Amino acid sequence: MSQLVAQAFYGSFFHTPVYGSFQYLHNALIEVNGAGYIYRVVEEDDPQQPELLRSYRESGILTELGEDRCGLPGFVDIHVHAPQWPQAGLALDEPLYLWLDQRTFPLESKFADLEFAERVYSDLVSQLLARGSTTTVYLGSAHLDSSLLLAQICADKGQRALVGKTVMDDPVANHDYYRDASPAQAVKDTETLIWEVEAIGRGSAQGVWPVITPRFIPSCTDEVLKGLGDLAETTGAYVQTHCNEGQWEHDVVLERFGKTDPYALRDFGLLRKHSIMAHCPYLTEEEGEMFAELGVAVAHCPMANSYFSSAVAPIQRFRSQGINVGLGTDISGGYSPSMYENIRQAVLVSRLLETGVNAQLPPERRGGLGEGTRLSLVESFWLATAGGAEALGLPLATFQPGRAFDLQVIDVKRPDSDLTGFGVFDSPEDQLARILYLSTPDNIRKVYAQGKLVCDKDARG
Ligand code: GUN
Ligand code: FE
Repeated sequence: MSQLVAQAFYGSFFHTPVYGSFQYLHNALIEVNGAGYIYRVVEEDDPQQPELLRSYRESGILTELGEDRCGLPGFVDIHVHAPQWPQAGLALDEPLYLWLDQRTFPLESKFADLEFAERVYSDLVSQLLARGSTTTVYLGSAHLDSSLLLAQICADKGQRALVGKTVMDDPVANHDYYRDASPAQAVKDTETLIWEVEAIGRGSAQGVWPVITPRFIPSCTDEVLKGLGDLAETTGAYVQTHCNEGQWEHDVVLERFGKTDPYALRDFGLLRKHSIMAHCPYLTEEEGEMFAELGVAVAHCPMANSYFSSAVAPIQRFRSQGINVGLGTDISGGYSPSMYENIRQAVLVSRLLETGVNAQLPPERRGGLGEGTRLSLVESFWLATAGGAEALGLPLATFQPGRAFDLQVIDVKRPDSDLTGFGVFDSPEDQLARILYLSTPDNIRKVYAQGKLVCDKDARG
């Protein structure tokens, strides 16, 4: 037995090391080292497996998933507005600017109150873990202190997190009750966030990182965008913002700068390797080429785009251009905290983009992009796992040596659940499809992040 193995997990696992296909590891043994990284995957036909199982069982470091359970990698949700959790599901038939102005900004302003922030953020992080999201990219409110609190809560609960303080400094575009005091203060607070969150991250096994987070161009002055771009250059910290989300944003930015969102962000120094651009349905081929060249990632938020963008992001085109793409729930532009729900929606909206939607017009005039547009369920699963990991440049989300061991254990025979079967269509492919389309949080019994048990519903009964 290798000294490097601190824990071992035996069972059947699904993952997607390559875009477009899945791998089923039936009765595999995954060895995990003391730092929570996968040391080795010993497959069923490996002659060493029986002896290794025996010795790990004997030494008490073996976790067996069991016959009616299987494992999926933890999800990587690359776009979540943490302070919007209390308004999930509300006001989604308003246009974006009204939804922001009437609901979102008044709500986010409440996060000046650290006691309120603690209650909401503790619940959110627990709920996301319980839905299998072991890595999350968060936008905090515009307040430094509550954003630091969020980072600390993630560290304490064992969730891998990237955390930003939302910057929105323009006194013309924002209300006085909720904005940064000045461009200089916003840059200073972001710099403080970077140092403090890095310190919090060093104290956690799974990692917590800071993110430079201008809300979107319409909320920010030129001065702050430039200051944040310079900070990205000097610190190398991650950047996240909204880009090209809707017609309104597109037009406002074009009128202000004479260029579109992606070029304006690039020229402020905010498009860097692993910068995360949320939404992007309006991204042109030329802008996409620039993203691919710079290593910029798109956070695909299929729900929020349906509500606010009047458009569907052409993910297959982005992928074929070589752009990194992950999936985001965009709580609460998307109502659901579940990446399962977003995997499903990513598939559904891609079908509408493929065909167009107005059946009163002949097929060629319905606005569909045609063949090659749709996402398969397995491709969407890849976006929620390996795609997010690639977007962030972190070794996560597949069961391969050297990757962090993040696992959700799915009970496929849970009583009263939607996962049926009745002994028919039980190929691994069909089992995976059922899990992705039909499982609910109750089917997710245990969640591990970086080898550590971070959610255990079995213990609750
Ligand atoms: N653009 C600027 N702020 C937001 C936000 O909070 N949600 C979404 N979906 N888009 C935005
Ligand atoms: Fe968003």
